[in-house]
Amino acid sequence: MSAAQMRVLLVGNGGREHALALALSRTAEVWCTRPNPGIAALARAVDVAPLDVAGIVEFARSARPDLVVVGPEAPLCAGLADELLAAGVAVLGPRQAAARIEGSKIFAKALMDEARIPTAGWTVVQSPADALEWARGRAAPPVVKADGLMAGKGVIVPDTVDEVPAAVEGLLPAGPVLLEDRLIGPEVSVIGLCDGRDVLALPSARDHKRIYDGDKGPNTGGMGAISPAPGVDDALVEVIRRTVLVPALAALAARGTPFVGFLYAGVMLTPQGPRVLEFNCRLGDPEAQVLLARLRGDVARLFLDAANGQLAGSSLDVDPRAAACVVLAAPGYPGVTSLGGEISGLWAGDAVGAQVLHAGTRRGADGAVETAGGRVLGVTALGHDVAAAVSAAYRRVEGVRFPGMQFRKDIGATAH
Ligand code: AMP
Ligand code: GLY
Repeated sequence: MSAAQMRVLLVGNGGREHALALALSRTAEVWCTRPNPGIAALARAVDVAPLDVAGIVEFARSARPDLVVVGPEAPLCAGLADELLAAGVAVLGPRQAAARIEGSKIFAKALMDEARIPTAGWTVVQSPADALEWARGRAAPPVVKADGLMAGKGVIVPDTVDEVPAAVEGLLPAGPVLLEDRLIGPEVSVIGLCDGRDVLALPSARDHKRIYDGDKGPNTGGMGAISPAPGVDDALVEVIRRTVLVPALAALAARGTPFVGFLYAGVMLTPQGPRVLEFNCRLGDPEAQVLLARLRGDVARLFLDAANGQLAGSSLDVDPRAAACVVLAAPGYPGVTSLGGEISGLWAGDAVGAQVLHAGTRRGADGAVETAGGRVLGVTALGHDVAAAVSAAYRRVEGVRFPGMQFRKDIGATAH
């Protein structure tokens, strides 16, 4: 390690962070908050929880990393970036006021209207009766959303108008509820690396949110991803960059809350054009696994430039190959999962060129790696096209086992 090597503190310890650690460790020394065993092979462990804002700031004050890269949204929404900046530490991740674009869906809708970003029609309701009245006036039953962070459980897509009041009632204890016109079309994630003013769009990606093949069953954090998303070429990514990411960034800057970090637009490709479903203030998971597999070059330096407001004139070095990630989940996920199952096949068979990225894993008392979360591993591979990347990932999946392992067999195969 040369004396000039950058030192990066990575906050988070899941699959997205393993992908980040892999990319950052090409050129930087990486430290990570309570790393899972996969990240621990690449990074020095810092014994502070990823959500312990005060603990992370205290560590950064004394260790003085060149950059802190924040994976998950919760510490950002809790003000981690503000406190690191106050301590004089560079951070890739938005301040609390800009992280509201994910932390409050109502805030995000108001910002989209202000910036004329195409999105579904919407209203905010405080009672089931108001919800029913609004819903009756729309062309289709509206989608019902909680305002705040709900760990993926805050969106209900009713089949009939009659289901709307009960859905609203269930979410009202958490605050006012957002109703949104239901849109139809394939979904795509477009994520921008932002320095507060400029934005570089990463390639397109597509998540697979439902637990079962054919997009059946309950929503999950994401069961797999591909990049690029079929039918979403560079020209369409550029349209989304110009009509969604750039105006969002400009509106946040105009409010005095510039956005630094990864701005994630979840977009539906409707017959009328792209419409934003949601913003996140971070990389997606498992989108990060496929996107970072395609990013070449010195990403640590690029991330530092973004944190310092110096992206102007930079560009991304993107691998033209496609990437796929197949998530292996614990039994019962996304419901109650049973954990502690021993995982075999982690280290063998990398000959096919796939990476077994750790998400919810830990080392058991006997030193063996075992399951420790709903999403356990993300097997990620490159290929000359999506189909080749997907089959390379599935070939590697065959070598991995743990009790009750479940995964989708159709990543990249469905039309969505
Ligand atoms: P969100 O967390 O807002 O992205 O919503 C989660 C999922 O719900 C999305 O990925 C879509 O599949 C679905 N969804 C959200 N909003 C809408 C909408 N307005 N119309 C149709 N489906 C939606
Ligand atoms: N994969 C979707 C998300 O990270 O929000």
